[in-house]
Amino acid sequence: MKKDLILFGPPGAGKGTQGALLADHFGMLRLSTGDVLRDAVRRGTTMGSEAQRYMNAGELVPDEVILGIVRDYLNGEAVNAGVICDGFPRTLPQARKLNHLLGELNRPLFGVIVLRVDDEMLIKRLSGRRSCGACGAVYNVYFEPPRAENVCDSCSGPLTLRPDDEAATVRRRLEVYNEQTAPLVEYYEGASVPIHHVNGDQAVDAVQRDLITLIEK
Ligand code: AP5
Repeated sequence: MKKDLILFGPPGAGKGTQGALLADHFGMLRLSTGDVLRDAVRRGTTMGSEAQRYMNAGELVPDEVILGIVRDYLNGEAVNAGVICDGFPRTLPQARKLNHLLGELNRPLFGVIVLRVDDEMLIKRLSGRRSCGACGAVYNVYFEPPRAENVCDSCSGPLTLRPDDEAATVRRRLEVYNEQTAPLVEYYEGASVPIHHVNGDQAVDAVQRDLITLIEK
């Protein structure tokens, strides 16, 4: 399906979870700027070490770094299917640049899907998230626990808390979202891009059903 869309919402809203399921369901591609940055941190690249200090403090990585990632990705030869933007754009300059890039490539934006979840639930989800250092699988000690504590069901790798899921950093990430990212909804409204609000505070498969119905409309 060739519909580019933005999966939008605060930290822990389920963008990564739902983005992966949608990509699988519709044969779309998912670009998670957070995943690209974490991979760069793991590989110890220059970009990774620059990004790491912002991420661990709960701050946004500078726009130039992010725009470089997105430009390289969209100009890549393999991007024939629709792209799900997960965690991007997060600032006004990023949103403007994305518009420009999509316009140049003649890729119409299907819209922005906002996953709504209240703060108390976001904090619970993030404090309960555990990720596998070996295969990247994601669990949640409250909602989707692994069979054995801190051991990945798929590859038996160790499960850890993301450094930016520590309580103080989560609080800062939520502030940054409210200050710098949430206002983009107004920007897209002003630009007449369709905005769709979806209740993200439901079981994973219920959220997925709502998203599929919306995209298939
Ligand atoms: P990024 O990786 O994008 O993190 P985020 O936006 O803060 O989002 P999360 O990954 O924390 O949450 P999510 O909404 O994907 O939820 P998930 O599905 O994982 O960014 C990290 C950092 O990188 C930023 O802080 C910034 O420093 C930098 N960065 C990235 N992009 C940037 C950009 N464009 N500009 C500047 N800086 C950038 O779910 C969370 C947990 O909840 C999981 O355990 C999951 O299993 C569980 N869960 C999910 N859905 C449900 C459900 N329905 N019910 C119960 N549990 C659920």
